Amino acid sequence: MNERARSEAVAQSLENSAFFMPFSANRQFKKAPRLFARAEGIHYYTPEGRQVIDGTSGLWCVNAGHCRPKIVEAVQKQVATMEFAPPFQLGHPAAFEFADRLAKLAPKGLTRVFFTNSGSESVDTALKLALAYHRVRGEGHRMRLIGRERGYHGVNFGGTAVGGISGNRKIFGALVAGVDHLRHTHDLAKNAFSRGQPKHGAELADDLERLCQLHDPSTIAAVIVEPVAGNMNLVLPAPGFLETLREGCARHGAVLIFDEVMTGFRVATGGAHQAWQSPATLHGSVPRTLGGPNITWAAGDRIVHTHLKDVDAAMAARVRAHARESGTTISAVVTSALTEFFARGRRDHPRR
Ligand SMILES: Cc1ncc(COP(=O)(O)O)c(C=O)c1O
Repeated sequence: MNERARSEAVAQSLENSAFFMPFSANRQFKKAPRLFARAEGIHYYTPEGRQVIDGTSGLWCVNAGHCRPKIVEAVQKQVATMEFAPPFQLGHPAAFEFADRLAKLAPKGLTRVFFTNSGSESVDTALKLALAYHRVRGEGHRMRLIGRERGYHGVNFGGTAVGGISGNRKIFGALVAGVDHLRHTHDLAKNAFSRGQPKHGAELADDLERLCQLHDPSTIAAVIVEPVAGNMNLVLPAPGFLETLREGCARHGAVLIFDEVMTGFRVATGGAHQAWQSPATLHGSVPRTLGGPNITWAAGDRIVHTHLKDVDAAMAARVRAHARESGTTISAVVTSALTEFFARGRRDHPRR
């Protein structure tokens, strides 16, 4: 059956399909499906052969473009050599090679990489690492997590809880106890037509101090924000906003997590962390921009330099975070090829 016939057959029986689509109006889609048959470069192709520009790079999953020959080649080669090896007490070279390569590209101080399978897993891993970090330092009372209203940190328990999407809270509840939120920074009256970083909004980072005083700073484990607020339609941080969070976290001993699912490799090779030079103590992740697996840069200047032993202890204590599919052979080679592509100024992969 060719792709067109296959798509037509699927489309005809879609109304009864078992596939529960994420973030989609299922019934509506299944009544009027929009299926793609193949992709190449910046285009998708419908089963009838109509070319459609992929304006969001596959929702930021394929930023190097679709079916790039070198990436296809890397996957094919790896599948034929060793398609999978478990990472528990065992290993394969690709994950080690790629982690080291990535650490070299990362902003100074980010020296450990933990691989996950999605941005959501990266966020939950980062939150868990922050809790583990405090616990191994004898500050297990630090359990409170601070997010931001309207923030999006994926679909897992932790990420949904620190996220500030009211629709999620309506349907799932708070999910995790002890979570509070900074106010959101989407202020159309002041920032609607900002070019670059908006002038207003840095003062909203003062909310952190207010929340610290409300809850007692010694209970705060971590503060997590998207440096560029995706769910607010890509609101950039006002100059000083991230810095104030950084200072507040440093003053009160909380871990600052940047969720860089959107910004990693995009606003700069090292993400917002590098672009605005406001080091977070623990990086969220750098996934979609690479189009491969998600990566928790499980380290930060403060943790790594000051408390290296503690992070290693946390890891030795087996921070159990999405381990079986962490750094799989195929994802490591894909992302390695992609990293090379981005690192070399996106020139070394010839177009077909
Ligand atoms: C900032 C941010 N965090 C987390 C996620 C979740 O990533 P994933 O969909 O890969 O689980 C996203 C997804 O768009 C995101 O934008």
